[in-house]
Amino acid sequence: MNASTIKKLEMKAIVFNQYGTPDVLKLANVPAPTPKDDQVLIRVFAASVNSADYRLLSGPIPRLMGFGLLRPKDKIMGADIAGRIEAVGKNVTRFKPGDEVFGDISTGFGGFAEYVCARESILVKKPANLTFEQAAAVPMAAVTALQGLRKGGVQPGNRVAIVGASGGVGTFMVQIAKSFGAEVTAISSTKKMEGLRALGADHVIDYTREDFTRSGQRYDLILAVNGYRPLADYRRALKPQGTYVMVGGEGRQIFESMVNGPLVSRRGGQTVTNLTAAPNADDLSFVKDLIEAGKVTPVIDRTYPLENTAEAVRYVGGARAAGKVIIQIQENP
Ligand SMILES: NC(=O)c1ccc[n+]([C@@H]2O[C@H](COP(=O)([O-])OP(=O)(O)OC[C@H]3O[C@@H](n4cnc5c(N)ncnc54)[C@H](OP(=O)(O)O)[C@@H]3O)[C@@H](O)[C@H]2O)c1
Repeated sequence: MNASTIKKLEMKAIVFNQYGTPDVLKLANVPAPTPKDDQVLIRVFAASVNSADYRLLSGPIPRLMGFGLLRPKDKIMGADIAGRIEAVGKNVTRFKPGDEVFGDISTGFGGFAEYVCARESILVKKPANLTFEQAAAVPMAAVTALQGLRKGGVQPGNRVAIVGASGGVGTFMVQIAKSFGAEVTAISSTKKMEGLRALGADHVIDYTREDFTRSGQRYDLILAVNGYRPLADYRRALKPQGTYVMVGGEGRQIFESMVNGPLVSRRGGQTVTNLTAAPNADDLSFVKDLIEAGKVTPVIDRTYPLENTAEAVRYVGGARAAGKVIIQIQENP
């Protein structure tokens, strides 16, 4: 596609012009973006929804990120995309038109649209054994899972507990932890138990029936991915030299570990730390290799068409998804 064709290109996108609930997300026809010298133009076939998309709709975070103090102007969300390169900027060396790619473009967002531009440095060739929908499920959640496990210093044979194991991040974390040789305990509610066993979890605990912090079992590593528990509960279930990594969950879980974590860690013994995941093409390539080796498979809960993105974001905002939620943007011709 040449520069003058791109300039005339219109696309369907999910835009929002005011902060609020997912209802502010509207389907619109807007001009397609034009790639800068270090960017590629991607025809997006599928995107996935992350909690980040829900959180960007209101509150201080989007305002701090420069979405606009009072209102966002024609903002397009969507961090995880999979598609095909249509055009490349003049400094692009790693990709060419026709390449199938996936990536986390949360440095600029714009994935809930038929076309998006992204820097080549954050993209990776799509895994050969995945559809575009499956590939779009991977980037942010899987890289967060990998970075969380690495931050916790996971080692083969470690006893690892994952709280919130059945969501987007957790389903990747269970599989990646297993690929590292850990003994994995996955914690979630009743109807998610079977799926977690199928992913390879060695033990599953139904939090509606059993309090894993009072079972007497001690873990080398606990990853708090969702929900809330007081930090003292987590520490009770941690070995004396164990590590706790706060990945996400309710605001008070995040606040507590950020405030108390450094104090606990300074005393020696247990380590309490927080993860701030960042998009990273090397980490995504690492996950891609695990996927192509058959060690990791994306878990997809639901797929929505682009026009129903608001519904998809609302569903993810409820924090009950079993795996990832996909937006199918256009059929792969
Ligand atoms: N640190 C970072 O840089 C970073 C990066 C990405 C995401 N995050 C955060 O990580 C968190 C998880 O993201 P995600 O994409 O995995 O979310 P998600 O897909 O919405 O997670 C949904 C899952 O969480 C489970 N869950 C909810 N409450 C729970 C509880 N009290 N105990 C155990 N499981 C519970 C649900 O299982 P049940 O229905 O069985 O309860 C559901 O399967 C979010 O808070 C997100 O903002 C952080």
